[in-house]
Amino acid sequence: TVLVVDFGAQYAQLIARRVREARVYSEIVPHTMPVAEMLAKRPKAIILSGGPASVYADGAPDVGRELFDAGVPVLGICYGFQAMARALGGTVAHTGSREYGGTDLTVTRPGSTLFEGTPAAQSVWMSHGDSVTEAPDGFTVTASSAGAPVAAFEDDARALYGVQYHPEVMHSAHGQQLLEHFLYRGAGLTPSWTTENVVEDAIAAIRAQVGDKRVICGLSGGVDSAVAAALVQRAVGDQLTCVFVDHGLLRKGEAEQVEKDYVAATGVRLKVVDAADRFLQALAGQTDPETKRKIIGREFIRVFEQAAAEIVAEAGSHGETVEFLVQGTLYPDVVESGGGTGTANIKSHHNVGGLPEDLTFQLVEPLRRLFKDEVRKVGEELGLPAEIVWRQPFPGPGLGIRIIGEVTRERLELLREADAIARAELSAAGLDRDIWQCPVVLLADVRSVGVQGDGRTYGHPIVLRPVSSEDAMTADWTRLPYDVLARISTRITNEVADVNRVVLDVTSKPPGTIEWE
Ligand code: XMP
Repeated sequence: TVLVVDFGAQYAQLIARRVREARVYSEIVPHTMPVAEMLAKRPKAIILSGGPASVYADGAPDVGRELFDAGVPVLGICYGFQAMARALGGTVAHTGSREYGGTDLTVTRPGSTLFEGTPAAQSVWMSHGDSVTEAPDGFTVTASSAGAPVAAFEDDARALYGVQYHPEVMHSAHGQQLLEHFLYRGAGLTPSWTTENVVEDAIAAIRAQVGDKRVICGLSGGVDSAVAAALVQRAVGDQLTCVFVDHGLLRKGEAEQVEKDYVAATGVRLKVVDAADRFLQALAGQTDPETKRKIIGREFIRVFEQAAAEIVAEAGSHGETVEFLVQGTLYPDVVESGGGTGTANIKSHHNVGGLPEDLTFQLVEPLRRLFKDEVRKVGEELGLPAEIVWRQPFPGPGLGIRIIGEVTRERLELLREADAIARAELSAAGLDRDIWQCPVVLLADVRSVGVQGDGRTYGHPIVLRPVSSEDAMTADWTRLPYDVLARISTRITNEVADVNRVVLDVTSKPPGTIEWE
């Protein structure tokens, strides 16, 4: 295991993912974890992440010297680099020369452990106010930039390394190479974390946990629940029943697609529950986003418990209960909820088949250690069809949080039509893999004046929200070709009654979230 010590910025997840891309298993730990506890995990290497703070700021997290004396290879990045320099006796100063964004880096020791085979001049991503002005004893300075006289240092004898810039971000041209050099050359690791291993380990763990008991899994049609279910099916076969709750907030063709694609590919036992009326009734009159989310989450659970009881009854196993519930929880969810560093509740996400506090199921979470891209690889390894593996994310509360205002049957129908058109045109243009997802939102309480044929119209706007992202934590709006946007707009205003305007959302995340509610 490679430990990535999280100093509080959003970089730790990205670093962990890059390390896994180098096929080395990595885990994130908070910087508040005592060094002894980190070392007890027997890491093969440690990476100190960037952070928001200056090492001189009040309450700036420190790194104890004992971390560097333990004989474990360490790479410090940005804040981690400065904290490392300070702990080992180097100098970190407010030089006044801040660097943010793309910066030219000069490699002063080509052929060093970190820079071997990369150009002497390269573009890197910097984000710092303070700078290391003197490397600690024993280190060689191997790169510099205009604002950072010591932009990288290396000590092969102790396998300690550091860089001021962020090798994990895409904008650092040779960043991945640098990380791999640290892992393979600096720390002597071999790339062995493979999808096959992941699948084998997951299946063994599920068997050990579940034994011969019954398991249910909520299928949403999305990739996470599909892959989780497929793993459980591999592990315990017939003990699994999947439940698909049609809450009436689905997109066009979705329920059919789950039945067709998923069942055909896996042969899993599927129970479909039509609960549209129940959800619509519960949502009647509600306009507040959090209230809507909570209602949907609650109704899900009720439907689910009922389904579990029916499954047992149908199997004629009186007195028996379903003990295990499969959840498609991913590693970022675990990190975010386990960080405990006071992350604000932006919105109440819930996975389909959600997590009620009073639920009696035990959870099976075979994807807890994986990132989304790894989940997709596992899906491919298990032979799931591309339509499922490459499906764009769709939120559990569905179209319910894409109607801004009260959710009604008529509004759902209208949005479903508009969404189907947008999806069809994006697919036809071959853009599915370029976009992370494209919510289509109905501003149900907004009307604007239009003209169609010879008459005045007074209809609703539809918002297109195409985004590009690696993990949905941050996102940018996708620059879609104008002709594709034009086709979507023309078709929606022509074909969907009561919609007379299509607008494009050009907000990144932050500050906007991906969904509108
Ligand atoms: P936001 O809107 O927070 O969304 O930027 C980030 C990602 O999460 C999806 N999302 C959800 N997924 N249950 C889910 O399963 C939810 O309640 C939920 N809310 C948002 C959203 O589509 C995006 O991919």
